[in-house]
Amino acid sequence: MAADKDIEKQVEELLAKMMLSEKIGQMVQINGFKGKIPDELRQKLREGKIGSMLNEIVPETSLELQRITREESRLGIPLIMGRDVIHGYRTIFPIPLAQAATWEPSLAQAAARVAAKEAAHAGFHWTFAPMMDITHDPRWGRIAEGFGEDSYLGSLFAAAMVRGFQGDNLSSPDTIAACAKHYVGYGAAEGGRDYNTAYIPENLLHDVYLPPFKAALEAGVASVMSAFNEINGVPATGNVHTIREILKERWKFDGFVVSDWNSTAEMISHGYCEDMKDVAKKSITAGIDMEMQSTAYSDYLEELVTQKVVPEELIDDAVKRILRIKFKLGLFEKPSVYSAKLPEKPDEESLALAKEIATKSIVLLKNENKLLPLLKELKSIAVIGPMADDPYEVLGTWNRDGKIEDTVTPLAAVRDMVGDNTEINYIAGLPYSRSKDTSEFAKAIKLAKKSEVVLFFAGEESILSGEAHSRAFLNLPGAQDVLITEIAKTGTPIVLIVLAGRPLCIGDIIEKVDAILYAWHPGTMCGPAIADLIFGIESPSGKLPVTFPKTEGQIPIYYNHKNSGRPPEGKSLTMIDDIPLRAYQSSLGDTSRYLDIGFEPLYPFGYGLSYTQFEYSNLRLAEDKIKVSDAIKVFVDVTNTGDMEADEVVQLYIRDLVASLTRPVKELKGFKRIRLKPNETRKINFELSASNLGFHTNEGNYIVEAGKFNLWVGGDSNAGLMTQFEIVE
Ligand code: GLC
Repeated sequence: MAADKDIEKQVEELLAKMMLSEKIGQMVQINGFKGKIPDELRQKLREGKIGSMLNEIVPETSLELQRITREESRLGIPLIMGRDVIHGYRTIFPIPLAQAATWEPSLAQAAARVAAKEAAHAGFHWTFAPMMDITHDPRWGRIAEGFGEDSYLGSLFAAAMVRGFQGDNLSSPDTIAACAKHYVGYGAAEGGRDYNTAYIPENLLHDVYLPPFKAALEAGVASVMSAFNEINGVPATGNVHTIREILKERWKFDGFVVSDWNSTAEMISHGYCEDMKDVAKKSITAGIDMEMQSTAYSDYLEELVTQKVVPEELIDDAVKRILRIKFKLGLFEKPSVYSAKLPEKPDEESLALAKEIATKSIVLLKNENKLLPLLKELKSIAVIGPMADDPYEVLGTWNRDGKIEDTVTPLAAVRDMVGDNTEINYIAGLPYSRSKDTSEFAKAIKLAKKSEVVLFFAGEESILSGEAHSRAFLNLPGAQDVLITEIAKTGTPIVLIVLAGRPLCIGDIIEKVDAILYAWHPGTMCGPAIADLIFGIESPSGKLPVTFPKTEGQIPIYYNHKNSGRPPEGKSLTMIDDIPLRAYQSSLGDTSRYLDIGFEPLYPFGYGLSYTQFEYSNLRLAEDKIKVSDAIKVFVDVTNTGDMEADEVVQLYIRDLVASLTRPVKELKGFKRIRLKPNETRKINFELSASNLGFHTNEGNYIVEAGKFNLWVGGDSNAGLMTQFEIVE
């Protein structure tokens, strides 16, 4: 974030006037009281002992809190009001994992722009987003909140969301400060169990988990939130190496770092701090500038400084960072710049954007015999499933301020889409996703029998993903697969639409349905997006931002894995039943795969079908040998060989064949979403700087080595044309 000379001068001048207790007050964030202002809070505001509040959801109260702080305290330093605006404020956009499935960062930027306007009008100055934790584990419930398994894709989305929230000018009334979270390595929690231990070697920390945060910093992110997990024995919230050395010293971050909720105090439970006084000392030493909710700073920092255990310079640095953002937000000049008038309801433009993003995020996984798109002239359609007409669950995790009356459900949208001559036979079949109540099954089966096609809306309630909601089994919850199996016996073709916050292991039911649309949790405009795809107004174009395992036993499973010394060869079989009795020990081939499930995923990273077909041809390089200072120019022709205009996401992967540290078998290094008419061919080009083809050493240094590379261009991480090039000294 470029330093503004005037602001720096104002920060220094204000800091010089502050007493120690007022400085520490700026480092304290507390939760709102849902519209109430207890006397104790009023008094603390007057004494300058609070610098920020989160979740004050009553705009008028937010304004009154600001007035007290501005007019009744000695220095009148305004509060910064925060809120989790993760994928929309009033207009709820698809969950971030779904937004990543569009492979179009500009859409995430546009969504964040809308969210910023709506949240600012409700009196919030700061969102705790974007969440950019890379993860290889769909058991982890927070996979829903991030951008999936790839650091390159995740970095582009993280930067785009920061730009969307913050706009070009933080002080304008419809922009809010963003927050890069959770710093760092939270998605590496062992076992996919939230808050769990993370072991991350330094080279992997720099190659996989840090890059999205670096991208967010380069996009000017105003704040960073420390994570709950520990990294190699040191909690992320007390981690001098990651916060002070990398973020603040090496990257020169000049915004401020807020702890996650109570994550400072949790260092006692981690076994890293003795008591809250030790928490205060280790948090400020690591570089936590503001403490969210817990009270180590307000209770002990002043004493630690007075006793010379903590140098006041650390307090001054923290306070300058906080004041800098408050000045950039314009809170001093116009404390009520945020008008605190709630939007009556989402405007049409916002809803149209929400629909566009949802439409582009949905991934077509199967389309047997081109069942989709359906004809609108069908005589009868059965709409079944617990997610078919639920306006709440499709909003997904971390929906805080979206209203269910805004949601257009799939059932409503299908009814809107078809004419009066189509009979819509609706039954939920199950009251909610976890239900095992089979009492409606007979009726559902009957409706399926009398219909020409079944649209089955399955998935996860929103509570089953998100924070603290890891799952050990990733099947469809409840009795959904039982009902699908029973309906499949009727012989009526089934379109399965899955609405979930993570990849699910749906391998057991794939053969029982004819088509599958994976719609994630699509938000307010869930129904219209799905209906447009089902009836062919638009072709599906989403691509998976995360690998789908066949079963939990394959996890962690991700496309950019290492080759190992005994990579699995050919197509592995689920061969455990084929093993001859008393087979000779090494007769089965000694390679890295599971005897009972093979090694391929259910669906690979980058995968997604279309109603048309795309053909890749004529992959060529301008030169096949380049120096480190050069760039590789790549060209490929893509043709729409089908009969429908549609989008394709052209993806470019490389593999560094030999290096001083082993490199992944594939690395995404470029992608472009293009739209082609039937029979249209377009020449697509990429320019790949050799400087972007390096990796980090175990000392955390970035290097680019000479050597041979494979290069692929195709429609997913498994497909495509291949060529080779070399980086030469
Ligand atoms: C939560 C989450 C964090 C969120 C914060 C405030 O525990 O970990 O992502 O922003 O608390 O709600």
